[in-house]
Amino acid sequence: MSSVTFTNIKKSFGDVHVINDFNLQINNGEFVSFLGPSGCGKTTCLRMVSGLEYNTGGEIKIDQDIVSNFDNKIFVAPEHRHVGMVFQSYAVWPHMNVFENIAYPLKVTKTPKSEISDRVQKIIETVELTGLEKRMPNELSGGQQQRVALARGLVAQPRVLLLDEPLSNLDAKLREKMRGDIRQIQQDFGITCIYVTHDQIEAFTMSDRIVIMKDGDIIQEGKPSEIRSNPVNDFVVDFIK
Ligand SMILES: Nc1ncnc2c1ncn2[C@@H]1O[C@H](COP(=O)(O)OP(=O)(O)O)[C@@H](O)[C@H]1O
Ligand SMILES: [Mg+2]
Repeated sequence: MSSVTFTNIKKSFGDVHVINDFNLQINNGEFVSFLGPSGCGKTTCLRMVSGLEYNTGGEIKIDQDIVSNFDNKIFVAPEHRHVGMVFQSYAVWPHMNVFENIAYPLKVTKTPKSEISDRVQKIIETVELTGLEKRMPNELSGGQQQRVALARGLVAQPRVLLLDEPLSNLDAKLREKMRGDIRQIQQDFGITCIYVTHDQIEAFTMSDRIVIMKDGDIIQEGKPSEIRSNPVNDFVVDFIK
């Protein structure tokens, strides 16, 4: 479990400013959603936490560790940040079976073989994929594939789990079930989660706190009930109705 702190985070791609001045503290064990329309900068913020993207201003901390500070030229490589990521698409490697997909992060960090087997088996039970260890991704349903991705994100016991629209490719019914499952697993593990979505139902049903974004700015943040009862402006009203 870990906290994540964004301080004066900026991001531009060339001349294009995508994130303006992003300030946010995410607490230990908290489930926070970044909610906003396509292009508002949600994925960019997530990728800066994972180290897949550089910030061009400001500082990001995971717990007390500075993982990126633009002014001081600090940048911790993704593999040393101990974060897990789950993406919307290309979630699993097609040439690896379920077990191999999930074991991959442990192999990369050179975990002993006996330990890999135990940990993968345990997480397979958690995400309810028992019996499917040898299946290839093309022999799995979309929901099962996303469970593999979730297990792979969790297996290395990351400090923070980052999820980027992980349910967008699933049909409505499965999406609803997976919302509950992800939230349950998050609470069982007590893991800090940042969840990116443009789907207000997802954000409102899953989150401890929602951060509403527009054009690279935070427009409002608060508990789902606070945002519902007290939207700060017409944009929020419109977006959550
Ligand atoms: N590698 C990149 N190069 C240039 N522009 C980018 C790049 N990645 C993202 N952007 C731009 O940054 C903005 C925010 O993108 P993104 O973070 O993906 O938004 P969201 O996830 O909220 O849909 C968009 O205008 C997008 O076109
Ligand atoms: Mg995105």
